Amino acid sequence: MSKLITVNYNRKPIYDIMIENDFSQLPEKIKSLGYEGVKATIVTDKIVGPIYVDAIKDAIKGIFSEVFVYSFDAGESHKNMDTVQAILADMVEHKMNRHDLMIAVGGGVVGDVAGFCASIYMRGIDVIQIPTSLLAQVDSSIGGKTGVDFLQYKNMVGAFKMPKLVYINTNTLSTLDDRQFYAGMGEVLKYGLIMDASFYEWLLSKLYEIHDKDAATLEEMIEHCCVLKQRIVERDPEEKTGDRALLNFGHTIGHAIEKYKDFTLLHGECVALGCVAAAFISWKKEKLSMDEYYEIRDMFVPFNLPITIDDIDDEAILNLTKSDKKAENGGVKFVLLKKVGKAYLDKTLTDEEILGGIKEIHFVEDGE
Ligand code: GLY
Repeated sequence: MSKLITVNYNRKPIYDIMIENDFSQLPEKIKSLGYEGVKATIVTDKIVGPIYVDAIKDAIKGIFSEVFVYSFDAGESHKNMDTVQAILADMVEHKMNRHDLMIAVGGGVVGDVAGFCASIYMRGIDVIQIPTSLLAQVDSSIGGKTGVDFLQYKNMVGAFKMPKLVYINTNTLSTLDDRQFYAGMGEVLKYGLIMDASFYEWLLSKLYEIHDKDAATLEEMIEHCCVLKQRIVERDPEEKTGDRALLNFGHTIGHAIEKYKDFTLLHGECVALGCVAAAFISWKKEKLSMDEYYEIRDMFVPFNLPITIDDIDDEAILNLTKSDKKAENGGVKFVLLKKVGKAYLDKTLTDEEILGGIKEIHFVEDGE
């Protein structure tokens, strides 16, 4: 299998998303993009690097004049300015110049950090994204959002930096641990809920194949998500018209929980919790029926995603939603559902309505 999706900007093709099941097509593509003879820095983390960097270096052997590797400790807690500074210093040391290339190999954190470094190093150098987690393959590697967490804010400092290529080797999912895999499913289910009811139904019908990590099913699923993401980023590349903001369904409360729990829960797990809370609010706003709400909530469970959480302070979570960068003039831009497959933006939610959603997912032991 080989799938190619081209992402356009102002109706002009900007970059390709290649979906493959190995790295064999990478060298020709890199050559066709004109990078022969330049230097490349591969940025990765200390979990993904040992698994894939040698295979990638082998595949691209002879193309670049030099290949450097910068590897940092894995995890969201390293998505910060210290890591950015260390990568930039490494690039300076290796005398990378503005014609050279950054290659991000890893999950969402690596893609965001490396992409951000590429966007500011010498006012910007090219970057190729090689996402290795489900979450990065279906969402974060596409569309050019890059950045790091800053102070108490998630993704507060960053830039739009369109990649020159997104190269997805779906076989990398075979080494992804199950918890990370299902966290990625949180973002996959989100696509169905916000914009594609038949895809949502398809996902539910493919539950067993997804659990089995059936290659054909995963490829079809990833390709479909990439096409949905392509459509959204072509309509609203820099989240100005509101279309792209719909991708933040589940993220306002999700980010608040992620921060409150000090990144002990994975992003996709927090997104699942945030989706449940947002679906509950959509029911309370009389957009979804009660049955629709409970169906949406319960369908996260077979994908090993949480629908409740204990040990949270509801008010603290509410306050964190206000420090989310999606908040505007004191109001929170919240994504709700009109129905499965149709999301909308609501900037009018009251604190009580948001608290209602938080309380719904807050599991309290009887007698507490
Ligand atoms: N992950 C949300 C976006 O790319 O807009």
